[in-house]
Amino acid sequence: MKKAGHLNYLTHEEIKKYLKPGITTKKIDQIAHDFIIKNGGIPSCLGFEGFPASICISINDEVVHGIPKNRKIKDGDIVSIDFTVRLNGYESDAARTYIIGSVSKEVENLVEDTKKALMEGIKKVKPGARIGDISNAIETYAHNHGLSVVEELVGHGIGTKMHEEPDIPNFGSPNTGIILKEGMVLAIEPMLNLGKKEVCMLDDNWTIVTEDESPSAHFEHTVAVTKDGYKILTGE
Ligand code: MF3
Ligand code: CO
Ligand code: CO
Repeated sequence: MKKAGHLNYLTHEEIKKYLKPGITTKKIDQIAHDFIIKNGGIPSCLGFEGFPASICISINDEVVHGIPKNRKIKDGDIVSIDFTVRLNGYESDAARTYIIGSVSKEVENLVEDTKKALMEGIKKVKPGARIGDISNAIETYAHNHGLSVVEELVGHGIGTKMHEEPDIPNFGSPNTGIILKEGMVLAIEPMLNLGKKEVCMLDDNWTIVTEDESPSAHFEHTVAVTKDGYKILTGE
């Protein structure tokens, strides 16, 4: 899983080089697809429950599961990139939101604070801690920074399948949920909105957007529970 996580990280780093105004989301998808294959991995989002691309690209008010197409990214957009990489039978899952050019201070804060909310959740990971400790840390950080938490989509266990037990909501109470043990691997992934928490699905049956059309950010890491804490498998 460490190797799968590392290839996921390298793929994000590769994509980053191309994120400039004018590139289409389809082109970004193609770059990611080819890079994963070239390095011996499988872009396991492709065909997952019928998803038509290798990566999810969600812009501005799109929360997650945006489908790459002919749309060009432009100055002032925030672009969330989320995908799984399968390697030697194991999955990895990571997401980042990028600011393209210049955005308002509040949108910049949304992106930075979502990244920090993920880290607040990750810092709770250690043997003996509980899922609710992670959930609560993310929720508390989000609310303290004026952001709302998407409730319909959650983090998850990960292993030979991309989605395994348990669910990891981005809200909840400390001291609830299953107890973490060394060797478990979790995909933790806050999705935070600048406006209201409500989301809905577009007619393409994939793209999740905010109901009030406010911008949304998403960060995700695959994290292993270690003897005395955690290791981020999709980090540097
Ligand atoms: N990477 C997503 C997650 O964080 C799952 C995407 S499924 C896909 O759980 F089919 F949309 F790719
Ligand atoms: Co993901
Ligand atoms: Co995930």
